[in-house]
Amino acid sequence: MKKHIVLLPGDGIGTEVTSAAKDVLETIADEFNHTFTFESKDIGGTAIDQHGSPLPQDTIDACRKADAVLLGAVGGPKWDNNPSHLRPEKGLLGIRKELNLFANLRPVQGFSNLLHASPLKREVVENSDMLIVRELTGGLYFGTPSERRNNGSDVVDTLAYSREEIERIIRRAFDAAMLRRKHLTSVDKANVLESSRMWREIVEEIKPEYPEVTVEHMLVDAAAMKLITSPTQFDVIVTENMFGDILSDEASVLTGSLGMLPSASLNEEAFGLYEPVHGSAPDIAGQGIANPLATILSAALMLRHSFRMEDEAKRIECAVSEALNRGYHTGDLNVKDGEQVNTHKMTAVVVELLKADSTTN
Ligand code: NAD
Ligand code: IPM
Ligand code: MN
Repeated sequence: MKKHIVLLPGDGIGTEVTSAAKDVLETIADEFNHTFTFESKDIGGTAIDQHGSPLPQDTIDACRKADAVLLGAVGGPKWDNNPSHLRPEKGLLGIRKELNLFANLRPVQGFSNLLHASPLKREVVENSDMLIVRELTGGLYFGTPSERRNNGSDVVDTLAYSREEIERIIRRAFDAAMLRRKHLTSVDKANVLESSRMWREIVEEIKPEYPEVTVEHMLVDAAAMKLITSPTQFDVIVTENMFGDILSDEASVLTGSLGMLPSASLNEEAFGLYEPVHGSAPDIAGQGIANPLATILSAALMLRHSFRMEDEAKRIECAVSEALNRGYHTGDLNVKDGEQVNTHKMTAVVVELLKADSTTN
């Protein structure tokens, strides 16, 4: 199959981890006789420096023409004091909105060889396997522009959702639950927020369409606690933009590191932008020590969701698992045994394992 992939490396470790995932995709193309072509475009701080905008039109146009997009991360201290329209994060929010990527899937699944890498007890983490479905193009992040202000003495962000925006993400979460253990936890703050009350109402309205799915409503503060005290009670979690952002970083603790969590940001069709959950990690950028696995696993999600290449996606996930089983790990993972490696070596190990039959050697 022929596929064109736009790479948006962005800032900090974004460039390092995107290049790792590209190596992996090229290996998959060789192994499975596909043709993947790549084109890199600027986004975030790099785009501000090069073009005076965090999201140049040329980047948007290239993404629209692509079969899928792979993004590293944006942001860094260099741009932290910029006015809001010249912040790197504005580029990421902009591309999500431009491409209507309202459904952000963040699977959280521990690898068996990393159970002890989590600061949580092994018996708590063991068998946790959940999917966080985060609404990605509404809520506080995209508050009504005319109401958003900071005039020095008071400041306003608004949290707005239309019924349609809530319905489509809830349906997406029910669909995902049907393919998994059929349990949906809808997370909100319905004891305080009007938007959460409508969210809850809509979950209840849609529920009869999925009689096999058991549904639970949970307040976000309690969910934050239960996520790390009894993570195995969760299958699919669906929640609004900001809650999903916070809960997914928290959930990464189950896997041993934020550097392990991939994500898929999808529109109504199968088009997607694939991105690790982590950011540009300015504290380790440029040192070649970033964990590339979140981005490599995001590339696997690309193959699965956008290209319908399930075997190829599984091959990547197995290679990652095997690399960890053999004791290779980057410095962010609290693993004592085995060999601590840098980004380049970790990628090379995965690439080697991807090559036909090497996982069975
Ligand atoms: P971060 O996710 O960049 O880093 C948090 C911590 O996790 C740091 O200690 C970092 O070293 C570590 N870490 C993250 N990914 C890692 C990896 N792959 N390997 C090893 N260690 C890793 O979050 P932050 O420090 O709060 O934010 C830094 C910048 O990134 C900010 O400008 C923020 O806006 C941006 N950000 C971007 C994205 C994105 O582009 N999707 C996501 C989150 C944060
Ligand atoms: C993420 C990031 C982004 C978000 C920021 C950088 C805008 O934290 O992808 O999780 O909050 O969505
Ligand atoms: Mn985040």
